[in-house]
Amino acid sequence: MVKFNLNGEEREVDADPNTPLLWVLRDHLDMTGTKFGCGIAMCGACTVHWDGVPTRSCQMFLGDIEGASITTIEGVSGAAAEAVQAAWKELQVPQCGYCQSGQIMSAAALLNETPTPTDDDIDAAMDGNVCRCVTYVRIRKAIHRASEIMNA
Ligand code: FES
Ligand code: FES
Repeated sequence: MVKFNLNGEEREVDADPNTPLLWVLRDHLDMTGTKFGCGIAMCGACTVHWDGVPTRSCQMFLGDIEGASITTIEGVSGAAAEAVQAAWKELQVPQCGYCQSGQIMSAAALLNETPTPTDDDIDAAMDGNVCRCVTYVRIRKAIHRASEIMNA
């Protein structure tokens, strides 16, 4: 049995400690907002926050997260996350939407650390989040817009 905090609630999961967190979330806890893309930490679709740090849940394992604090797209909150979600809606960022929960998790973590990011900061932080619909230009604009909303 592994105990961890998920979106502010204490959870216990009894499964093979080698189970990737992505599958713990989706299959054991029915939380499907975190997406599977590649399974090898190359696309960012599965991004969650581990103690506030954006992390690929396809390469985190249940046995590693005892006592950790995990946040998913279903539970992300705070000024940065709210500004990101408002900017995403305002600029209509998503196309198919598949990558977007991972994009939002990475963007919120960036703004938590760097409330006024430069284009270079954004490119560095978002580099591992792939979008097959190529929404990168809107994502960058939306992060700048979220920064304005946060800092207003
Ligand atoms: S599914 Fe985890 S990075 Fe692609
Ligand atoms: S919006 Fe379709 S993959 Fe990013």
